[in-house]
Amino acid sequence: MDTVIQIEHLQKHFGDLQVLNDVDFQIERGKVVTIIGSSGSGKSTLLRCVNLLEVPDGGKIVYEGKDILSGDLDVTKYRSKVSMVFQSFNLFNNKNVLDNCVMGQVKVLKRSKEEAKKIAMEQLKAVGMDQFAYKASTTLSGGQKQRVAIARALCMDPDVILFDEPTSALDPEMVGGVLDVMKDLADKGLTMVVVTHEMQFAREVSDYVVFMDKGVIAESGTPEELFEHPKNERTQQFLSRYSNR
Ligand SMILES: Nc1ncnc2c1ncn2[C@@H]1O[C@H](COP(=O)(O)OP(=O)(O)OP(=O)(O)O)[C@@H](O)[C@H]1O
Ligand SMILES: [Mg+2]
Repeated sequence: MDTVIQIEHLQKHFGDLQVLNDVDFQIERGKVVTIIGSSGSGKSTLLRCVNLLEVPDGGKIVYEGKDILSGDLDVTKYRSKVSMVFQSFNLFNNKNVLDNCVMGQVKVLKRSKEEAKKIAMEQLKAVGMDQFAYKASTTLSGGQKQRVAIARALCMDPDVILFDEPTSALDPEMVGGVLDVMKDLADKGLTMVVVTHEMQFAREVSDYVVFMDKGVIAESGTPEELFEHPKNERTQQFLSRYSNR
């Protein structure tokens, strides 16, 4: 197995609250891992630690053979390779769609503007947004914004994209389009970690599913193991809330 990121004994507190407790987690190249679990179980905090938006209190995050928590790291460059797609899109509102996708390539990867534009157009095409390239990002629907955010991440040739509930802020009719884009990326072999409440997506697309409960990985396994034969009582309780819908 080709491990992109290896997480060992990760710890995170907010004051007295232990949010991550001795979390071990691996991201394997070409695989899709989904993280499920109740609100407050630490899913976002785990992704935010991997992306260095939060600084863990203990443990290791090993990327390219080095613990990124010790020693010097070019955080901007790291985030271009281990990138994050947020519930709230985080596009630059004062820029058009194309410039959103070009900027990081020029600044961080030092690509020429011309090359960056070419790559941006290809990636926008891949998510079905090329015809919006010159539109202001503020004029897009939520689903369109999220597809642009995904294209922007792809422009950086990421090793992995971390998705934190990418469809939770969308109107229901927009959800399918974004999930289709993500399925397509999974089929193309992109390494993905996806925090989601979309159980159908988790079932169909993941290679591996992680159930978080109160800051620990309470259970993990293949979608078949997790969804058809959950062993942990908390996993069973959590999933039963979805099957009744
Ligand atoms: N910056 C912060 N300061 C203090 N407490 C925080 C902070 N961020 C998160 N927490 C707390 O840490 C716990 C885990 O939060 P986290 O956002 O990781 O949960 P989650 O599993 O992503 O939940 P959700 O499904 O609602 O997004 C929660 O109790 C939350 O209130
Ligand atoms: Mg969250």
